[in-house]
Amino acid sequence: ERWDEKTRVLADKFGRTISYIRVSVTDRCNLNCLYCSNAGRKGAAQGRESNLPRSEILTFEEIFFVAETARDKFGIENIRLTGGEPLARRGLAGLIKRLTAEGFRVGLTTNGTLLEREASNLKSAGLSRLNISLDTLSPEIYRNITGGDISLAMAGVEAARSSGFKEITVNAVARGGDYDDAARFLAWAARRRLAVKFIEEMPIGGGKSVCGSDAFSDGSVDARAGREAFDFGAFENELVKALGLISADNPGFGPGRYYRSGGSDAVVGFVAALSKPFCEKCNRVRLTADGKLLPCLGHPDFADIKKILRMNLCDAKKREAVGEAFEHVAAKKPKNHDDFAKAADIRMVSVGG
Ligand code: 5AD
Repeated sequence: ERWDEKTRVLADKFGRTISYIRVSVTDRCNLNCLYCSNAGRKGAAQGRESNLPRSEILTFEEIFFVAETARDKFGIENIRLTGGEPLARRGLAGLIKRLTAEGFRVGLTTNGTLLEREASNLKSAGLSRLNISLDTLSPEIYRNITGGDISLAMAGVEAARSSGFKEITVNAVARGGDYDDAARFLAWAARRRLAVKFIEEMPIGGGKSVCGSDAFSDGSVDARAGREAFDFGAFENELVKALGLISADNPGFGPGRYYRSGGSDAVVGFVAALSKPFCEKCNRVRLTADGKLLPCLGHPDFADIKKILRMNLCDAKKREAVGEAFEHVAAKKPKNHDDFAKAADIRMVSVGG
């Protein structure tokens, strides 16, 4: 028996419609980025974070059940898989295939280091939008930030391109003040027909910014010492001016302001979560790897979906309870995130960047 309930729209109390779920499929990652894991390197360190026991992580079956419920009850058809590093979880292409077969548009955010092996499988599974995290073209800076080897990410980018992905975006957490670097980065991306999305670092978890630190430098720029907090708005303005960028439509449905470059039709976006929050356009809820449905990044008032999924109930009852959890979480969506985003003890690696 299929549920015959009519699809309703999931809206919050500020009139925003939830049309999109971000799902973290694992809290494991093969990199250890300073701004994400807060595990620290370079002395600061507690070492690598401990991961959740596997039994706490939702199975693909459970994730699929939640997605299916969200679509059937609320017409949600957009989903993005994140991590941790989602490709660190075996069989991800299989989940994507099931989701696309059900009519979902599926996006994936990955660090790209495991893409070389997986890109063509992901393409065949129907993955449409691919975001690859890459903050710099410098192997040294890359290693400082991620602890990893940039050549793997680069190979991933090339594999994605040659597998025929049309909508590839490079996510770059912006580094302070290096307009020339940023311009080189954009030129590199434009030649490969990659969109670039510069992201303002959110000082979550550890509660302090790493973008001003030496980790983001190759050591050649002395002026970094003691410099002021990075002004993301100024960075955007400067690049827009220097490169003659022209306002453009948002190519996806995430937040951010987008531009095209007059010369090359390269797309570049700026996501200023802190300096210019976009909460009024928020369209999402987040499912963590261990099955917590969050109204907003770092929001303490979540619904424990895993608990529902593992109760001794028939599927119809579970589906009803999961639907109610979505309604509860939508109702809890705060007007904006600045009340708690700074204070919250969250790490992107477990919530899903
Ligand atoms: N601030 C902003 N973006 C972050 N990401 C991870 N941690 C942070 C942070 N503290 C982004 C990465 C990656 C995506 C998954 O999340 O750039 O592209």
